[in-house]
Amino acid sequence: MTRDEAWKALALHPDPTLAELFAEDPQRVEKLSSRIELGETGIRFDWSKTHLTDELLADFEALAEAADFDEMRRRLFAGEVVNPTENRAAEHSALRGVGREASVEEAEALRQRMMLLVNAIHDGALGEVKHLIHVGIGGSALGPALAVDALGRDDPLVDVHVVSNVDGVALEEAFEACDPRTTLIAVASKTFTTIETMTNARSALKWLADNGVDDPTGRVIALTASPEKAVEWGVDETRILPFSESVGGRYSLWSSIGFPVALGIGWEGFEQMLDGAARIDQHFRDVDGRDNLPLRAAFSDLYYLRLRGCQTRAVFAYDERLRLLPGYLQQLEMESNGKRVTVDGEPSGPTAPITWGGVGTDAQHAVFQLLHQGTHLVPIDFIASIEPGDMLDAAHHHILLTNCFAQGAALMAGQSSDDPHRSYPGNRPSATILVDDLDPETFGALIAFHEHRVFAAAVMLDINPFDQFGVELGKAIAKKIEGGGERFDPSTEALLKEAGVG
Ligand code: F6P
Repeated sequence: MTRDEAWKALALHPDPTLAELFAEDPQRVEKLSSRIELGETGIRFDWSKTHLTDELLADFEALAEAADFDEMRRRLFAGEVVNPTENRAAEHSALRGVGREASVEEAEALRQRMMLLVNAIHDGALGEVKHLIHVGIGGSALGPALAVDALGRDDPLVDVHVVSNVDGVALEEAFEACDPRTTLIAVASKTFTTIETMTNARSALKWLADNGVDDPTGRVIALTASPEKAVEWGVDETRILPFSESVGGRYSLWSSIGFPVALGIGWEGFEQMLDGAARIDQHFRDVDGRDNLPLRAAFSDLYYLRLRGCQTRAVFAYDERLRLLPGYLQQLEMESNGKRVTVDGEPSGPTAPITWGGVGTDAQHAVFQLLHQGTHLVPIDFIASIEPGDMLDAAHHHILLTNCFAQGAALMAGQSSDDPHRSYPGNRPSATILVDDLDPETFGALIAFHEHRVFAAAVMLDINPFDQFGVELGKAIAKKIEGGGERFDPSTEALLKEAGVG
């Protein structure tokens, strides 16, 4: 069967409502909810409130087969080229110990080097270190910011500030919160050329110098796949933590880009995060068909994207510690799968939906009106933890969880009324990811689950999830404006003139 034939078969399915699907199949929850065990804890993935059926799953399995999913997955873990436009492998799983042997060994050696530096800093080798300003952008910032915010709230070993925007307001805010005498600067950039990061890095060094720090460059830790550029920039080799070129920016949290996580929560916590991700790698590598949970989630994503025309998907974390997760997933999903041509360069049908979302319960009082009664169909992921993250009265967490589950139930059930303004159509899909407890291990697993979900969708869509040429044109034009001497369209010219830049 070809991909086209598989899509045609998928398009022939009837559209029963969620209520009908539950009524027809008493086993539905068992069939579409699975747990992944992670040592002491685990994660439940409940896809039963989506429109997936046994028949749809079978046809999606046929699509995966037509897309040569097993072979593409083998190539991913074998460290073979899966990013053909850049002729690269994508070896983020090797950073977690799952992948090509030589890459796993190389990653292990680099991790040892990182561990020694992290532990030395904790032991005072660089003097008293109370703060870390981590400058980086995109994949060099979103993962560390999310992980530190999620895992490093209680008594962090070092107070971490992740600064990404070139808008100086962001860096000034970090300066306000840090004492220059006890601050290290992490410069995180795969390429070590990104203008925002290098501008922030220079200003951070100036801030140290202006505040009496003798050797500002001696306070820099470079996290990069281009160590030679960091050396040129003046960083001593002992404070450069390299990672492999075959690790993509948005997949790099597990490399030295995760340095602020290790510094903030400690080495053990960082390793637990990798272990949790590795557990998902093994699951994704070894389990076939619909029981493979990232693949199952990708089936659902493609169902809503291609067969129900959903242009967006929303993620609501019912956990304050995961408030940065939607932003992280936006880069992971939209930079990976926001493509318009297939691997062979042919026009593609719809690819990544727009990922958006927020934190529950806040979002209920802001955007859920549209989700319940608006005209868009938006598949939703709810994410929550059974154990609370707070020490307050148990009522807080109880209300949080009941609201989370109530939203999924309400979206699905709806409610009819003679008054159209007060009626809810229902039949609106959601999935729920419920972790026993949000700790480094479950956190790592959660992120790796999404990485593989994105890859699985890309394989079935026949697109390359590992390049991002779409971000280049704007950068090139900004450079030309900086360089001067070039003319642009009248609107841009007028704006440049008015603002006095360019
Ligand atoms: O803007 C695109 C991008 O290349 C992202 O993919 C990447 O995460 C980010 O820029 C930062 O790049 P670097 O780590 O090389 O500074």
